[in-house]
Amino acid sequence: MNFKVGITYNLRKDFPQQKDQPIDSFEEFDSEETIDAIRDVLESDGHKVFKLGGGTGLIDRLRTTPVDIVFNIAEGIGGRNREAHIPALLEFLNIPYTGSDPLTLSLTLDKAMAKKLVRSDGIPTPGFKKVERMEDLHGIDLRYPLFVKLCYEGSSKGVRLDSKISEPAALREKVGWLLETYGSPLLVEEFVSGPEFTVGILGNSNPTVLGVMQIEIKGSPPDEAIYSLEVKREWEERVRYHCPPPIPADRLKRIEEVALRVYRTLECRDVSRVDIRIGRDGVPYFLEVNPLPGLSPVYGDLPIMAGRMGWEYSRLVKTVFHHALKRYGMAGTSRNDCYAGAQNRAE
Ligand SMILES: Nc1ncnc2c1ncn2[C@@H]1O[C@H](COP(=O)(O)OP(=O)(O)OP(=O)(O)O)[C@@H](O)[C@H]1O
Ligand SMILES: [Mg+2]
Repeated sequence: MNFKVGITYNLRKDFPQQKDQPIDSFEEFDSEETIDAIRDVLESDGHKVFKLGGGTGLIDRLRTTPVDIVFNIAEGIGGRNREAHIPALLEFLNIPYTGSDPLTLSLTLDKAMAKKLVRSDGIPTPGFKKVERMEDLHGIDLRYPLFVKLCYEGSSKGVRLDSKISEPAALREKVGWLLETYGSPLLVEEFVSGPEFTVGILGNSNPTVLGVMQIEIKGSPPDEAIYSLEVKREWEERVRYHCPPPIPADRLKRIEEVALRVYRTLECRDVSRVDIRIGRDGVPYFLEVNPLPGLSPVYGDLPIMAGRMGWEYSRLVKTVFHHALKRYGMAGTSRNDCYAGAQNRAE
């Protein structure tokens, strides 16, 4: 069962920082080390690996380099469907790939859309309003403190230590700055003031929790702690990860249940990371889900969590890959059968 595996990704180094761009414009993109780490794991498993990248040249590369399956970690470029672009192309070419499908990737990237769906399934998530212009703040019916972030971004892009807002003047100032610096839309959300957790989930028909990791920001009480851009960039000094977290078993179970419900509601596949914060009422509130969680073996939350749960990095990557193979019914096929299939598809 050895396959030709392509890896699709976007590298930070391909997007040199321009003077007029926000400092975190390319925060979501990957480093070459991460791609190499994934390649090494797949190669050590006997597969032939092709680093395919993620720009428009990929369209030609997929035709000249027929692969059996793609390990996709491309965050994509531009707009709320950007994470869906490559999976949609792969579906068009009938090439299997790891991770969620285009619909889930778009729905989860748009935090307001994800919250609407999750809420309609009865899963607790903070009250919110999507804000596209200053006028949208008129008559906003949310309880302070509030939190303001970008609606379609990840890696805490646009999230700063002062993103928690306690009164209307500060809200106008923050919204004005975000609209001017990053553009519309924004998400204004009620601030959830208890401890923060991120939950790793793997699998498909019967998804399971890999781990629950509490994120403690050193020196900040939970009601002030924000896992902001500044904190994520200096995580080694500023964050203490607890995995498994030192909390009562029933609270842990409730967090896991919320995360699994989110995973099912949004029809995630193979892998995802769900961010949750506990409210003053003790309820775990859904913040957002990442169906393309960062896989850096050094600073990715999911690999850190896996490590704390006793999993080697290679086991994490192989498990994600295996879930995808199984989903496509490829887990038991021979390389030649599969390769022939891929060639047929490319024609
Ligand atoms: N409603 C909220 N209440 C309290 N804190 C919040 C809220 N929304 C976001 N945060 C804080 O801001 C951080 C970043 O927000 P969020 O996870 O939504 O953004 P992200 O940039 O998509 O993150 P990721 O890096 O996981 O992709 C959270 O980890 C949390 O600390
Ligand atoms: Mg997050």
